[in-house]
Amino acid sequence: MTRPSNDTFLRALFREPAAHIPVWLMRQAGRYLPEYRALRAHAGDFMALCKNPALASEIALQPLARYALDAAIVFSDILTIPDAMGLGLSFVENEGPKFEHPLRNERQIRRLFVPDPFDRLRYVTDAVSATRKALNGAVPLIGFAGSPYTLACYMIEGSRSNDFRFVKTMMYSRPDLMRRILEIVTEAVLRSLNAQIESGAQVVMIFDSWGGNLATAAFQEFSLFYMRQIIAGLIKKKEGERIPSIIFAKGGGMWLEAIASTGCEALGLDWMTDIGEARRRVGREVALQGNLDPGVLFAPPENIAAETGKVIDAYGPDATGFIFNLGHGISQFTPPEHVAALIRTVHEHRLTKGKNLVSGY
Ligand code: CP3
Repeated sequence: MTRPSNDTFLRALFREPAAHIPVWLMRQAGRYLPEYRALRAHAGDFMALCKNPALASEIALQPLARYALDAAIVFSDILTIPDAMGLGLSFVENEGPKFEHPLRNERQIRRLFVPDPFDRLRYVTDAVSATRKALNGAVPLIGFAGSPYTLACYMIEGSRSNDFRFVKTMMYSRPDLMRRILEIVTEAVLRSLNAQIESGAQVVMIFDSWGGNLATAAFQEFSLFYMRQIIAGLIKKKEGERIPSIIFAKGGGMWLEAIASTGCEALGLDWMTDIGEARRRVGREVALQGNLDPGVLFAPPENIAAETGKVIDAYGPDATGFIFNLGHGISQFTPPEHVAALIRTVHEHRLTKGKNLVSGY
């Protein structure tokens, strides 16, 4: 297979020079778009959209019809895996995800199993292939999963949490049970990501949204250890093209060197991390993706342009190995026209033809 006609995102991931800085946004398909809200109202709820490959693919393409984005991401959710493991997922309006059967005792944990991604999660792989087909080679398609630790947080707490009391209780009193959950989820995530690659995903991303709630040693032991195994087990090449991987660890700014050492191609950065400093630390090993504060998008377009320029300037004059993104998902309260200002600013940024990062930044 040949590369997509716009391959700037892949080039940046491999730290090859690109014609412009590629940009996409976490949660780029979602509630801030009126056309998304219309489809969701029609389908009933969010999971009904995820479970319908034709609708999921239509939604994944919605933001690309509005903006000159350089990548598409499969429309799905990280919590589909625990749902397929029998935990009973639902989304309560304005409360976020809820599991009917959170993991609270040893018996439940002993019964956990690895779901077959082509069976119980067939709607995900079908959404991947439908979206890849609908893209028709325009831009690369990103497949994704949650990190084992982040999934375990939701599986044990059962919903959003402020203190992660149940997770921390298990981790520090029964680390054997915690590890058992993480081992099974690791296998489930690895199989899901490889199934997404088999179905047409050209890049994969791991979201470690909650790793940042761990102490440094615990992050290594309970989050990074498992992400490393996933990176090692991923399909590396498909139809002659390398499949790059990205790790986004929110709150992981202290651990960039360790995360880069997993062998992933790129790190996603939250907005608390200085991207210039991150580049000095790990820019020789990985590409960087990020990291505008999503809150900037509430400001008027001129201010958005200025703040966007600051992130690009902080990365440095030679933008090789840089993918512009937000530091976390876009807010549902973002005015859609503000996103246009951001994309325009990134694409109009004049690239300095400097030294290639690999040859000595
Ligand atoms: O980025 C994309 O456009 C692709 C789709 C995508 C969704 N969720 C769709 C979604 C991706 C990549 C995710 C990842 C995800 N899901 C994460 C990791 C990233 C992060 O935000 O830290 C997490 C933790 C989840 C779990 C999840 N799903 C939560 C906490 C929520 C509720 C959040 C909220 O804002 O209410 C969801 C629901 C969800 N996932 C929506 C979308 C579009 C909103 C659903 C709706 O109400 O229409």
